[in-house]
Amino acid sequence: MTKLIQITEVGPRDGFQNIQDPIPTTLKMNIIDNLVAAGIKHLEITSMVSPKAIPQMADAREVIKHVLHTHPQITPYVLVPNVKGAQLAADNHITHVNYVISVSPLHNQANINRTHQQSLDDLYSIRQNLPELDITLSLATVFGCPFIGATDVNVMLDIIKFADEHGIGKITLCDTIGVATPLQTLRILRVIQQAFPSIDVGLHMHNTHGMALASMAAGLQSGITRFETAVGGLGGCPFAPGAAGNAATEDAVNMFNRMGFDSAISLEGVLRVSALIKETIDPNLLSSLSRARTYSEFNFDSAHAMPDNDHGSIKYGK
Ligand code: COA
Ligand code: ZN
Repeated sequence: MTKLIQITEVGPRDGFQNIQDPIPTTLKMNIIDNLVAAGIKHLEITSMVSPKAIPQMADAREVIKHVLHTHPQITPYVLVPNVKGAQLAADNHITHVNYVISVSPLHNQANINRTHQQSLDDLYSIRQNLPELDITLSLATVFGCPFIGATDVNVMLDIIKFADEHGIGKITLCDTIGVATPLQTLRILRVIQQAFPSIDVGLHMHNTHGMALASMAAGLQSGITRFETAVGGLGGCPFAPGAAGNAATEDAVNMFNRMGFDSAISLEGVLRVSALIKETIDPNLLSSLSRARTYSEFNFDSAHAMPDNDHGSIKYGK
């Protein structure tokens, strides 16, 4: 049976927030429409943050309104850093938020001007005041911080523990600066899965050191089936100097398809969006497939010729 992968497209948030020139709101909507047409059902469409911190997200309300009106069948996510962001998201009829805390205290301060305690207090208030809101905890700098290097696994576990105790069942591990290795990914996942066996873990990898897809494949081996990616390989945190883009959606869909997984997303559709972004926003996209031939006319899979027909002893997915 084909295993299902959930890809959450984060280009309209993670990707756009890192573009200096203002992107016209209508172009953002057009890109979102085309992502939905490509089969994307989980989409981080914007963030509710201070327009002084991220001017590119100042049109969040218009984007939300457009998506809720035009695409009632999809699940839009909004990134929020505090109580105010969560309240604004809920006021604008958003049901799913990604609440961000950085494992590195310095990055948390630089990014959202908060101590860990303040971030946890806000999370507590959001749970109390907006109990209906579906919250995924996005943990930034899990694999490394631009200011201190390695981050503390025990601090990460303490934050997850708090979330777990307050009924938050989903966390996304973010490699904000794109330095994770596949082995590091396996190790961190093992620690979390041992401590919190029932928590739903997703991966959000950036590709600065070129190992994003490899680390996602390591995630598959640990049973992870939820991934965040950005079309074209856009992405980056304005408060994480030196970070490159996210793992590209087209590259991830291609990898999953070719490994026999089903993301229910059209590769051709995503490539069309990538081409549109190349034409209108950034001519130098980082994704592999936006620069390369897909060879989609061929089937390279020779697994059927293997004696045991199960990709050897390698097991991926749940
Ligand atoms: N959405 C919109 N506006 C917000 C907001 C939110 N979630 N939270 C605060 N604000 C506004 C306040 O109303 C206030 O506005 P004013 O100056 O017009 O009165 C202003 O921002 C400052 O509020 P304050 O609570 O003092 O925030 P701050 O200056 O400590 O900044 C954040 C904290 C979280 C708002 C800011 O650092 C931020 O938006 N960071 C987001 C960074 C980001 O998106 N990073 C990339 C994604 S991980
Ligand atoms: Zn990111």
